[in-house]
Amino acid sequence: MTGYNRALRKFVSPEFITGDGAREFAGRYSLNFNLKKVLFVTDPNIEKCSWLSHVIDSITDNGVEYEVFSSVTENPSVDEVMEGADVFSTTGCDGIIAAGGGSVLDCAKGIGIVAENGGHISGYIGLDLIKNPMPPLICVPSTAGSSADVSQYAVISDRSRRTKRLIVSKSLVPDVSLLDPVPLSTLPREVAVNSAMDALIHAIEGYCSNGSSPVTDTFGLNSVEMIIRNMSPGYWKDPERSFGIMIASLYAGLCFSNAGLGLIHSMSHALGGLTGMNHGYSSFLVAREVLEFNMDAHLVKYRTIALKFGIDCKEKRYENSELPGLINEKIMDIFGYEERPGLADVGILEDDVPELVQRTMEDPCIATNPRLPVAEDIKKMYLDLL
Ligand SMILES: [Fe+2]
Repeated sequence: MTGYNRALRKFVSPEFITGDGAREFAGRYSLNFNLKKVLFVTDPNIEKCSWLSHVIDSITDNGVEYEVFSSVTENPSVDEVMEGADVFSTTGCDGIIAAGGGSVLDCAKGIGIVAENGGHISGYIGLDLIKNPMPPLICVPSTAGSSADVSQYAVISDRSRRTKRLIVSKSLVPDVSLLDPVPLSTLPREVAVNSAMDALIHAIEGYCSNGSSPVTDTFGLNSVEMIIRNMSPGYWKDPERSFGIMIASLYAGLCFSNAGLGLIHSMSHALGGLTGMNHGYSSFLVAREVLEFNMDAHLVKYRTIALKFGIDCKEKRYENSELPGLINEKIMDIFGYEERPGLADVGILEDDVPELVQRTMEDPCIATNPRLPVAEDIKKMYLDLL
């Protein structure tokens, strides 16, 4: 690091509890917030998991009523948010407990916005458009990656337009996150690996964001280091490693929620909206090209990341242009990805590129990318990626 960034920055974070059994505090916190009836937001797969019963028991043991809303799918839609908000108000709920991955947590945030502010969720897309704070929101994340449980972001899909839209507001920071590694043990392999990839990309983009600060740098860089140290095929079956990835994801969330993200996320949101593919995986698909584009804008930070991956760029004096490829190889090795398919292999056509470019340019994450691209830069990246 050549010097500390002394630009004015603020840092917001929810209260959180970490460790085995943290999920069982859901009921006690409901009581602390004086809640009488909570909307329990989850999805059909999580509903089948045995660990969920401990969360529900803690609610009923504390004398709090609950209503279940479990119609959340991957990349939650505006319709799901509106349906959940309707259940919230018609059943007389006064708070929300969300148990699940990023999709469940984002949907719960959307429900909270509409429940307290009225109208349609589409009216809150963008930066700082939420007037009234959400009802109390308690999160029990079941993946280590999205960090929606600590962030001021929510991503909601409009399936009729095949878009993913971002809502950013300090009002979206949940009140409490209960970071318990036990739910991770029930994850399907693909979800576990791709969500850890999301955490790594959050850490890298947050660390290199032009909205970063010495505080977010500490969380971002430590997150990269912890992911490299703990990631392995089957990490989520190992209590030590899964807790390590969970804390790394927490650090990444505290970093990017306050520092912002970058072009990897803007392209990933565009691809996810068009194809519905997993967010962590679509981020991986575009990461190398974006790192190549960004490299010269923040050379010291990218070389620091390369060093964390064990790429000895002090002794061997790799060319800067070699680093994105070397980092990509290390990532594939650590995450157990055997190949990095082109976008054509995942259904993207050359005809889709103009639409993808436009959506990428409109995505708010692009604002904090260390190098501001123009449409031609993004078009070239998509064409190279096909
Ligand atoms: Fe992400």
